Amino acid sequence: MTQRVFTVLVTDLAQVTFRVPQPAAEAVSNLLTELGSGGVEQRDGETLDAPADDRVELRVWLPSSDVEGHVKAIKRLLASLREMGVEVDPFAWESEEADPDSWVDAYKRHFHVARIGRRFVVKPSWDQHAPEPSDLMIELDPGMAFGTGLHASTKLVMHALERIARLCPTPQSVVDLGCGTGILAIATARLWQVCTIVAIDNDPIAVAVARENIERNGLSDRIDVREGSAEHLEGRYSLVLANLSYDVLSRPNVQTTLAGRLDDFGRLVLSGLLGEQAKELSLQYTRDLSLEPEYSEEESGWRALLLRVRA
Ligand SMILES: C[S@@+](CC[C@H](N)C(=O)[O-])C[C@H]1O[C@@H](n2cnc3c(N)ncnc32)[C@H](O)[C@@H]1O
Repeated sequence: MTQRVFTVLVTDLAQVTFRVPQPAAEAVSNLLTELGSGGVEQRDGETLDAPADDRVELRVWLPSSDVEGHVKAIKRLLASLREMGVEVDPFAWESEEADPDSWVDAYKRHFHVARIGRRFVVKPSWDQHAPEPSDLMIELDPGMAFGTGLHASTKLVMHALERIARLCPTPQSVVDLGCGTGILAIATARLWQVCTIVAIDNDPIAVAVARENIERNGLSDRIDVREGSAEHLEGRYSLVLANLSYDVLSRPNVQTTLAGRLDDFGRLVLSGLLGEQAKELSLQYTRDLSLEPEYSEEESGWRALLLRVRA
């Protein structure tokens, strides 16, 4: 079904290539991820397909109707970087309508069996892997949804899950908010055999992809997948996983909703944050809500926070 979902959608996709000088590349790549691009392919002097000049190429798949908005956002970012004295010129971009087969090939080329943390192994549905007895397997076909485990924001949540499993009692109920492919809900089910798990996303495509992946992993009876939004989360949970974005996690109504949904021993994992954003959010969640910081980790400029209900 995933194949069908993106064959339908792919007709509206464009492959967009942005070319920027090296000093601006990381900021532009981060912005593209923040704007929701499922994967940013980077080509520079160190990759196999190096660009013709010494600029960095950032390639993403975008809905055709979003291309202009992305270009405007990047131009705004470049203008502020320019004011700060960062080298941003020459900047160029080009867009190409998608051919469904090349879209499929593109993401398959970049997604292989990967070990994450101590025990998780993420395996694309088309790849092979002979698991070790201690491996916690997650089989995925990401389709059009975010969450292959390659992005630091996902890995950081998986590290936090392993830490919670080592140091804390088994959570009774877990919600994966902004579940994308369902990777974190599946990882949760692999770690704990008895907790109830809900996976929620506000994007119907992600919901369809997550359902399919959860079924692929034989977990349909353990994980309840729903379409819904962080703003309207219902229920009570001992663990809330929220790999969303600063934009969503800094909204006051989302903050009070998330904190209010935790039970007495509740823990909240916030991810999808750049370093400075994480600092600011940590202050907001611990100053205004009854939470305290427990642990935090950074990778490739991305930071995740583990907060718990104040004792
Ligand atoms: C960065 S992806 C995370 C995917 C996956 N959980 C992972 O860790 O790789 C964020 C997901 O949150 C969803 N999302 C964004 N805003 C949301 C909101 N307000 N409520 C629920 N889901 C949201 C997006 O559709 C996307 O699938």
